[in-house]
Amino acid sequence: PPPGWTTSADVVVVGSGIAGLTVALRYTELTPAGRVLVVTKDVLSAGSTQWAQGGIAAVLAPGDTPDEHLSDTLLAGAGLCDEEAVRVLVTEGPDALKRLMEHGARFDRDDRGELQLTREGGHRRNRIVHAGGDATGAEVQRALIEAAAHEPRIEIIEHALVLDLLTDAQGRACGITLHVMGEGARDGVGAVRAGAVVLASGGMGQVYASTTNPLVSTGDGVALALRAGAVVRDLEFVQFHPTVLWLGHESTGQQPLVSEAVRGEGAVLIDSTGERFMAGVHELADLAPRDVVAKAIMRRMAETGDDHVYLDARSFGEEKWQARFPTILAVCREHGIDPVTEPIPVAPAAHYASGGVRTDLFGRTSVPGLYACGETACTGVHGANRLASNSLLEGLVYAERIASDLITPRAVPGADVSDVQSGLIDPRTRGRVQAFMSRGAGVLRSVESLSGVAKALRDAQWTPIAVEPCLEAWEATNLHTVATALTRAASARQETRGSHWREDFPDRRDDTWLGHLDITLTEKGE
Ligand code: SIN
Repeated sequence: PPPGWTTSADVVVVGSGIAGLTVALRYTELTPAGRVLVVTKDVLSAGSTQWAQGGIAAVLAPGDTPDEHLSDTLLAGAGLCDEEAVRVLVTEGPDALKRLMEHGARFDRDDRGELQLTREGGHRRNRIVHAGGDATGAEVQRALIEAAAHEPRIEIIEHALVLDLLTDAQGRACGITLHVMGEGARDGVGAVRAGAVVLASGGMGQVYASTTNPLVSTGDGVALALRAGAVVRDLEFVQFHPTVLWLGHESTGQQPLVSEAVRGEGAVLIDSTGERFMAGVHELADLAPRDVVAKAIMRRMAETGDDHVYLDARSFGEEKWQARFPTILAVCREHGIDPVTEPIPVAPAAHYASGGVRTDLFGRTSVPGLYACGETACTGVHGANRLASNSLLEGLVYAERIASDLITPRAVPGADVSDVQSGLIDPRTRGRVQAFMSRGAGVLRSVESLSGVAKALRDAQWTPIAVEPCLEAWEATNLHTVATALTRAASARQETRGSHWREDFPDRRDDTWLGHLDITLTEKGE
């Protein structure tokens, strides 16, 4: 249907996690009169930021240096990080974190009032700040929502699903179409005209049957960018978090995370016989980078025939569990597991898209006027495997950089708004896409498994029924779009590197594959 209403702003930001709200806040700080519209698919706090446990990595400890953080990040990224992008991240990170604290975020401190710093996989230093023990994301999200609420130049529309990008005659982004569900005068399909569009809509974990991501993480920003002809990069590098609470095969959708910080504080992985299996696999043992730990768990599961392993943190005792990981303790107990007295059953699940919409060092995508930030973006800082707790940091640092680029004055163009995207997919396809992806394009991949997924996705696309435009249909369409692109990238990369694990090409091949896979949709949308 054609849009029923139109509004305008200097900048429209899609998404309300750490990336989206930081762009909005920083932009209003840097401009005397700039107006930002933030649109978000559910309520402001529904995205992944709210769920982050471990923390935010930044060089704050005496003796730590940006060079060491850089080197840990490059090592985890398995040869594919953009070094310049990482240098920006690690050098600008501490100041960006200070500004987040000025916006009201309160992190855990010791008796002397100093920030408490913990460690996670791949870090050789304690450099991760946290809040509420293991509720870092909830505190960050709370602080940013409160700060945005106090800024009258930030307008917010909740329950607003982004549909497509609007471009002007020169191909420059000049707004978006939206489907708003139940927000008064702006109900239904409408258009926002804006001088620039920022995609900060999070990741795509819901493309798999089992993930740490919330229900809303359906790849909407990446799918929009693909439809708009933007270049998308490194989609094959999906990070599987090694320690996700194992609740049985029948438990699908968002699963509870057991933070890597639990290992950072001394917990160890054991198999069903009680044997520790990370020693000897990597010099950092249980604190090896995430891809190494996830692979070791999968191998041990294959050897023992078990469908999970265990995380043993009985040594913490009740007091440390209560003080340091109250959220995880409560969730485990809700599920009948007491980590104080028994090991926690865990298995890997989809966690983070290291790739996304390709950007430069100021968040600019290949479409002029279109920016991407946070998990939606591929800035180059994560390479083939993101280092733990670098994601909230990336959201912060690159959001600020986008805001600084946006302050170049731009007129809000008068876009010609035509019909919104057609070709919606039957909402029931969502479950099928998740099942195909988990089976054939998950932790372990091969040419057979990936061509099976590609065929299943092609077959699933064509439904004989007319589909009503609604949230569920859009989400299914977006998941199908990103699943197709991800599968294509995973098929093309014939090697094993970082979080991309090919059974048929088990070695890393720097001679051939030390580069990126950029993807754009063809005219036919294939
Ligand atoms: C965790 O707490 O283990 C997750 C941290 C991250 O994904 O960076």
